[in-house]
Amino acid sequence: MAEPHKSLVTVDTLILGAGAAGLMCAMQAAQRGKSTLVLDHAKQAGKKILISGGGRCNFTNLHTSPENFLSENPHFCKSALSRYTQWDFLELVNKHGIPWHEKTLGQLFCDDSAKDIVQMLLRECKSAGAKVQLRTEILSVDYDHGYRVRTSEGDFEAKSLVIATGGLSMPKLGATPLGYQIAEQFGHRIVPVRAGLVPFTLHDHDKAAYEELPGVATEVIAENQRTAFKEAMLFTHRGLSGPAMLQISSYWFPGESLEVNLLPHLDVSDLLKTARQETPKATVASCLAKHLPKRLVQALQTQSETRGVPWQHKALGDISNVEIEKISKYLHSWSVKPNGTEGYRTAEVTLGGVDVNQVSSKTMESQLQPGLYFIGEVLDVTGWLGGYNFQWAWSSGWVAGQSV
Ligand code: FDA
Repeated sequence: MAEPHKSLVTVDTLILGAGAAGLMCAMQAAQRGKSTLVLDHAKQAGKKILISGGGRCNFTNLHTSPENFLSENPHFCKSALSRYTQWDFLELVNKHGIPWHEKTLGQLFCDDSAKDIVQMLLRECKSAGAKVQLRTEILSVDYDHGYRVRTSEGDFEAKSLVIATGGLSMPKLGATPLGYQIAEQFGHRIVPVRAGLVPFTLHDHDKAAYEELPGVATEVIAENQRTAFKEAMLFTHRGLSGPAMLQISSYWFPGESLEVNLLPHLDVSDLLKTARQETPKATVASCLAKHLPKRLVQALQTQSETRGVPWQHKALGDISNVEIEKISKYLHSWSVKPNGTEGYRTAEVTLGGVDVNQVSSKTMESQLQPGLYFIGEVLDVTGWLGGYNFQWAWSSGWVAGQSV
């Protein structure tokens, strides 16, 4: 019996992944006159954009610079970030009349909806002539003087193949390891991957100690030997979250402890000594509760017993300078040893990925395989929380779009 007829479509540029990086690359390539097609297995383009920033998409950060990114080669991101900047993306957003605002720390969000960003990208793709084909499973990729991609919807041929399939975070949204598999097929090294920008889980004994605290948040400095972040920390049912913890999770390895300054704006020693003079009958807890959430003070007070810094029910007038120094040290460098993280299920990003030392920082083209490009999160470039990861997707997608 003859094989059923399979369609074959030939384009200049084939992009796998209709996410942030893939769509940016597609509109640029098409604007340069390249026939361009984006394939994705999802039912919808830009799914992560749609749910990002609580539905408002933190689409860039005004302070984006190479220091906001992790990679085995921290220099790699410099060229792309300087050629397509946060200001360039903002110009595009403004051109489409999308209302936006700065939240904190240079983070730019849509006023209305993340849908505005996806619609903008799709509109740009359409007007440049780039096509986006969804619900298409990628079955195999081969190279013979050009790329042939076999899919559930027929075969595709192209001179340039761009891998924009993102990382492993949030498999529910369609994340798969396809990009890493294709990279390995063509001889690329993969920097070991792990979940980043992810909440911590706690050991059972810590979970029990802080079981009354889910929902409690406070401004802290979270620190380890590599870095420090001054932002909010949030207690959850499983452990610790909030921007400070998400940020430092990208710099954390299993088995390590974190130091948390619970009162970064105050000198606890000065505070207690002054209060001891002014209100000697007040308790330590009541004094601290003016500066920290009350429920947190209660939990810390209980914990202080086991950590050798007891201040249970003590009046300020009854504590010595030595005890004050101990309490101060305890609160300024509260130590916590996470059990692990919540993993890819809730992580915002994937650390590691395609080794950037085998990719051109000017074009995102593979140095091992002509015509093969990697952009966005699939590469070993990971931004901080705050719009940096989308900026990397825009910048890397843009430079590849100039080169394919
Ligand atoms: P992205 O993941 O966007 O796109 C990859 C595409 O490839 C997807 O459309 C997927 O369906 C497709 N694909 C994957 N495997 C495939 C396969 N086997 N076959 C076919 N198609 C396949 N960043 C930021 O800067 N600001 C923010 O506000 C947020 N918020 C945020 C919230 C949440 C909940 C998450 C999970 C992440 C964020 N991020 C973020 C991170 C940001 O979403 C992420 O870094 C970028 O979307 C990465 O863009 P990419 O285009 O590389 O991948």
